[in-house]
Amino acid sequence: MRKKIIAGNWKMNKTPSEALALIETLKPLVAGADADVVFCVPAIDIVPAVQAVAGTDIAIGAENMYFEDKGAFTGEISAPMLVDAGVKYVIIGHSERREYFAETDATVNKKVLKAFEYGLTPIICCGETLTQREQGVTIDFVRQQIKIAFQGVTAEQAKTAVIAYEPIWAIGTGVVATTEQAEEVCAAVRACIGELYGADTAEAIRIQYGGSVSGASAPELFAQPDIDGGLVGGASLKEDFGKIVHYDR
Ligand code: 13P
Repeated sequence: MRKKIIAGNWKMNKTPSEALALIETLKPLVAGADADVVFCVPAIDIVPAVQAVAGTDIAIGAENMYFEDKGAFTGEISAPMLVDAGVKYVIIGHSERREYFAETDATVNKKVLKAFEYGLTPIICCGETLTQREQGVTIDFVRQQIKIAFQGVTAEQAKTAVIAYEPIWAIGTGVVATTEQAEEVCAAVRACIGELYGADTAEAIRIQYGGSVSGASAPELFAQPDIDGGLVGGASLKEDFGKIVHYDR
C-alpha cells in the first residue's frame, strides 16, 4: 500500500518572513495527516522553513536545482546545498520551468540523476498542453517525458521517486482535470514505469495529480487507484491546504 504524498508548490510566493507566518498558520492544520506532507518553497525561504518545521512531520522541498555539483553557474543552487540545508524533496521539470526557463527533457534527466546521487527525492513533473490533449497525443507525450526523465535511473531509485502529472491547461486555471482524465494518465504513467522497470517498481512509485487541486476536489481525485496524492499550487498558500492534506477525514 503506497503512502499518499501531498506537496505544496509555493512557486514565486512568500518572502522569508511571510513564509514563517504561513508555516505557523498551516502547521496545526496539516498535523496528524496520514500522508507525507511537503512544502516546496522558494530557495530563499528554505533555511528558515526547515527551522520552522523542526519537530513536525512536515518536510521541506525545493522548487528547482541545478545538475552540477558546484562551480561558475551564477544564480543556481546545487543538490549538496539543498541537502546541507535540510531539504528532502526537489521538484524537477515543472511546466513553468520548461516554458519560461528553457528546461528540457534532457536537463530534467540530468537533474533527476543528480538528485538521486545526493539522496534527494525528485518530484518529476510531466503533463500535456491543451493542444496536445485535443490532438489526442497526451499519453504518447507524457510517456516520452517519463522515458527521458528516467534514463540511467535504477529500479531501486525509481521506486522512491515521485511523479507529478500536471496537465498544463489545469494549472492555475481553476479547471481541474476530471477524475477520469487524471486517473487515465496516472495509470498510463504507472504502466510506462512498469515497462521500464517491472511490476514491483510500478507498484512502489508514487504518482501525484496537480492542477487546481482544492479541498473540494481532493477526496475524489486521491481515491483513484493510481493517484497517490497531489502537487498543489494556489491552494497550498491557504488554509484550504489543511483540508487537502486531510482529504480522507
Ligand atoms: P495550481 O494548484 O495553482 O493549479 O498549480 C498546480 C501546480 O502547478 C503545482 O505544481
